Amino acid sequence: MKITPNRIRALKNHARIPALTAYDHATAKLVDAAGIPLILVGDSLGMTVLGFSSTLPVSMEHMLHHTAAVARGVENALVVADMPFLTYQVNDDEAVRNAGRFLQEAGADAVKLEGGAERAGLIARLVQNGIPVMGHIGLTPQSVKELGYKVQGRGPAGAKMLADAKALADAGVFAIVLEACPATLARDITASVSVPTIGIGAGKECDGQILVLHDMLGMFSEFTPKFVKVYAQLGEEMKKAFAAYAEEVREGEFPGPEHSYD
Ligand code: KIV
Repeated sequence: MKITPNRIRALKNHARIPALTAYDHATAKLVDAAGIPLILVGDSLGMTVLGFSSTLPVSMEHMLHHTAAVARGVENALVVADMPFLTYQVNDDEAVRNAGRFLQEAGADAVKLEGGAERAGLIARLVQNGIPVMGHIGLTPQSVKELGYKVQGRGPAGAKMLADAKALADAGVFAIVLEACPATLARDITASVSVPTIGIGAGKECDGQILVLHDMLGMFSEFTPKFVKVYAQLGEEMKKAFAAYAEEVREGEFPGPEHSYD
């Protein structure tokens, strides 16, 4: 059954929500088949699949292309498309148009954008226009030049993060990603807002968790943050398979008769 933003919202205080990123059709199908209710086509694809050093170069065209591939593979999960850098910050009219393209052209069910109280007006307008929104506060990678990749919300900054979460919930988001913040702050935010919090590096007391697929599958070796748990070393398995194939081709062992036509 197709998961809606309201269904995700209703899971608060009832069931923990597992979420993952996905960027292509084949992988999205597997994630969906595993029963993950929320798939984020994250702009992390800039690093994991496009080879950029940050999310900043990711464009609308990149995101539409990958979101459409994911949406074509998913039957049940809610597909959330990440709005890339400078597609919602310049002005609200442009932001509404860009967000709408994800639903209209790429088949997404919702969008995600980074930022706190300063985005409340835009979020309310998107929601009023039928575009469900997921918030994202704490470490916001599109602000890397200002914040770095550092834990956020320590000390007095925690109060601002809590106020931001409340402003996002009041504006109408159906969930909020909390990235890289102290677990105690994430716990307090989770207890204070009416919508689910989805943590990444925010401890176990969020309503849900999200991981970047390439990180949890051991396929992105450049940098593994402390909060990542690697559930399978697929990168190593892939290298072994590629080497075995190369060896068999060089030795004339592949293809055998069972892979050839009479
Ligand atoms: O782009 C992304 O993958 C994200 C997650 C880290 C939440 O924003």
